[in-house]
Amino acid sequence: MIKSAAQAAHPPSVRLHQVYKAFGGKTVVDDLSIDVAHGEIVALLGRTGAGKSTVLNLVLGTLTPDSGTVRVAGLDPNANFLGLRGKLAVSFQTDRLLPWRTAVENVELGLLILGRSKEEARATALSWLERVKLGDAADKYAHELSGGMRQRVSLARALAVDPEIVLLDESFSQLDHVTSRALRADFHRIAREFSKTCLLVTHRIEDALDMADRVLVLGAPARIQLELTLTDGQRRDEQLRARLHDEIAAALGGEEHPTDPG
Ligand SMILES: Nc1ncnc2c1ncn2[C@@H]1O[C@H](COP(=O)(O)OP(=O)(O)O)[C@@H](O)[C@H]1O
Ligand SMILES: [Mg+2]
Repeated sequence: MIKSAAQAAHPPSVRLHQVYKAFGGKTVVDDLSIDVAHGEIVALLGRTGAGKSTVLNLVLGTLTPDSGTVRVAGLDPNANFLGLRGKLAVSFQTDRLLPWRTAVENVELGLLILGRSKEEARATALSWLERVKLGDAADKYAHELSGGMRQRVSLARALAVDPEIVLLDESFSQLDHVTSRALRADFHRIAREFSKTCLLVTHRIEDALDMADRVLVLGAPARIQLELTLTDGQRRDEQLRARLHDEIAAALGGEEHPTDPG
């Protein structure tokens, strides 16, 4: 990868070094080393059960490795859980919106927790809803929004605290193809505009090809089978995409086709 000036000036935003994790004697993460550079979008692609969410939980600090090290912005995320508050944001497969709060009230919550004034939190939340094309839906409750719109609110909520690092755990996986493609395009544009460092985990090849600068294909237990890089120009080249898709599908192996038909 060619390093930009910004990347050269920063240490890796996320670093896993020789990480092992087992649950009840079953190895789930096996000697995994990953560096995510400042401003880089990295996709971890693997089948269900490959250990992707476990990796994200290690980065979040909600799990600790059995051996090896995990660093986020230079800190151990488990020991510095509070220190990383506001620097690390996460969005999940389900939107996890609070049903009794409107869209804008969901987005501003993290800002209020970080001690911003009500006025500032509201203005920031509204600007993020506009960036995800939901400016008109600010006062709607989750049950009044489509699945795609709820996921947009969830992404706005993650981005609103202006985190250094954004983690996405299958954030696009429950949406139909058309909806998820539009959302991926918008997320990618925003991540680039604000130079966000992103580690996303997914079982869908399209998620990786649409957004990632670098794709790491995991086998189970989570160990890198294939690594490839992709420029924005390359991701628009349909022939190249088809070839990469096949290469990735072969690395994922097995019967279960990793891209859903829906
Ligand atoms: N807290 C846990 N306790 C025991 N086993 C777990 C726990 N979390 C995950 N696992 C197991 O680890 C494996 C990987 O899970 P996970 O990281 O959720 O995979 P993925 O997100 O790739 O689907 C699975 O076999 C799962 O059952
Ligand atoms: Mg998972």
